[in-house]
Amino acid sequence: MLVQGSWHIRPYRPEDLGEIMQLFRETIHAVCAGDYTPEQLDAWAAVTRDAGKWSQSLLENTAFVAERADPGSPHILGFADLTPNGWVNRLYTHKDWQGQGIGSLLLAQLEAVARAAGLPEMRLESSITARSFYENRGYKAYGTSEKDVWGVRFRNTLMAKPLN
Ligand SMILES: CC(C)(COP(=O)(O)OP(=O)(O)OC[C@H]1O[C@@H](n2cnc3c(N)ncnc32)[C@H](O)[C@@H]1OP(=O)(O)O)[C@@H](O)C(=O)NCCC(=O)NCCS
Repeated sequence: MLVQGSWHIRPYRPEDLGEIMQLFRETIHAVCAGDYTPEQLDAWAAVTRDAGKWSQSLLENTAFVAERADPGSPHILGFADLTPNGWVNRLYTHKDWQGQGIGSLLLAQLEAVARAAGLPEMRLESSITARSFYENRGYKAYGTSEKDVWGVRFRNTLMAKPLN
């Protein structure tokens, strides 16, 4: 367990699912609102409609949450998961806990897992909102990806960082 003042990072547990899906929707609508259209925000947040798929992917991947140490609300302040082949699948910090080092420590935790597994690099599809965050942590853009989510078009930046 990584301890950081009033919160710590621990592995994801199935009982975290409801709270992290709510965090995900709220963060998108609050933190990403300046970078996407309302239609895109709704479509992006709607991926939690398939709770079974979310649960399965969080259990198949290596997932962590940032958990508050005291009994206050919210209880979970961020979460992140890494696929077995080294993709950062999700990284989200609670809308009211941005800029306090939670995203950095979650990402460092995923990098430590990937390094320990002998993976050569980290890869991810960055949102517009998160791109500078990743750039400031050594990730470099190498392309773009386009996809439809609930019928709405998204263009993400493909980024990578060597692990050594
Ligand atoms: C991207 C994201 C996960 C970063 O999470 P975060 O918890 O805010 O990240 P951090 O606090 O570690 O770092 C954010 C900034 O705050 C600064 N910061 C770190 N610790 C800090 C502290 N104790 N006090 C004030 N600022 C701090 C960092 O320097 C960083 O700035 P920089 O990127 O210019 O270097 C978060 O903004 C988020 O949830 N974004 C929306 C969802 C999203 O797009 N996710 C990615 C999908 S690909």
